[in-house]
Amino acid sequence: PRKIIIDTDPGQDDAFAILLALASPDELEVLGVTAVAGNVPLPLTERNARIICELAGRRDVKVFAGCDRPLKRKLVTAEHVHGKTGLDGPEMVEPRMELQAQHAVDFLVETLRREAPGTVTLCPLGPLTNIAAAFLKAPDVVSRVQEIVLMGGAYFEVGNITPAAEFNIYVDPEAAEVVFRAGVPLVVMPLDVTHKVLTTRARVEKIRNLGSEVGRVAAAWADFFERFDVAKYGSEGGPLHDPCVVAYLLKPELFSGRLINVEIETLSELTLGMTVADWWGVTDRKANAYFVGDVDAQGFFDLLTERLGRL
Ligand code: BDR
Ligand code: CA
Repeated sequence: PRKIIIDTDPGQDDAFAILLALASPDELEVLGVTAVAGNVPLPLTERNARIICELAGRRDVKVFAGCDRPLKRKLVTAEHVHGKTGLDGPEMVEPRMELQAQHAVDFLVETLRREAPGTVTLCPLGPLTNIAAAFLKAPDVVSRVQEIVLMGGAYFEVGNITPAAEFNIYVDPEAAEVVFRAGVPLVVMPLDVTHKVLTTRARVEKIRNLGSEVGRVAAAWADFFERFDVAKYGSEGGPLHDPCVVAYLLKPELFSGRLINVEIETLSELTLGMTVADWWGVTDRKANAYFVGDVDAQGFFDLLTERLGRL
């Protein structure tokens, strides 16, 4: 299986991504889950990460706490989307599995130095603070990363936290700039893709009808998450952003995009955190990201539901 580290700020959609990865041990070996401040503050994201691993029956997964705020800015959170805990919806009990003592950034550095070069893939699902902090602290690990597959940014769909920016990039644009300029093979799942994978009634019922605890809890998360987006975007169902990252690792043929140049706006107040994506190739700037533009949404949900059924 391919070795991955999931860097996350759970978040109901982060939870789907982690469950999908843990349900797919033949393809993916989760070396660790690193929590970062984002949707909610760090004490909640690391707690939520443990709740999700426990739900999957995987107390053995190593969960680390990382950066509690962006590299240079004050933390912006998204309780208006994810609720006070970040995982609002179903009743959840406090996790019993322990948090690892090591800092997530040190875990990232140590793991990339220990594993053979080009064998560890990073899967960031939140602000890029932990990844950038690791690259800044230990530049020698950058070239050892196999690939980064991340959820963040937007092009045609533009912003969800400001008119110009997507949440994960907006929260820590300086970190995003470090990652996008690192020279590591990069796959980006922007809102353009994630706004196509909608939790319609029929899709959520299939998950609920799995008849398992995972199915019941995941459906309740989808119900909660949806309340926000239906009112906002007028679509049936909410966008399941983060599991697109894991689905891409499992079935890349579900997705299509373009290898293009993407730069991060870090200066303008108006468009801070914008992913300036050269989709039409109008500059000579070097391509640095495979920017995904389309997805087979039903294929995605078939994969997700089948895998959740294994837990
Ligand atoms: C991203 O922001 C968070 O709210 C979600 O978990 C996702 O990672 C979408 O913009
Ligand atoms: Ca997230």
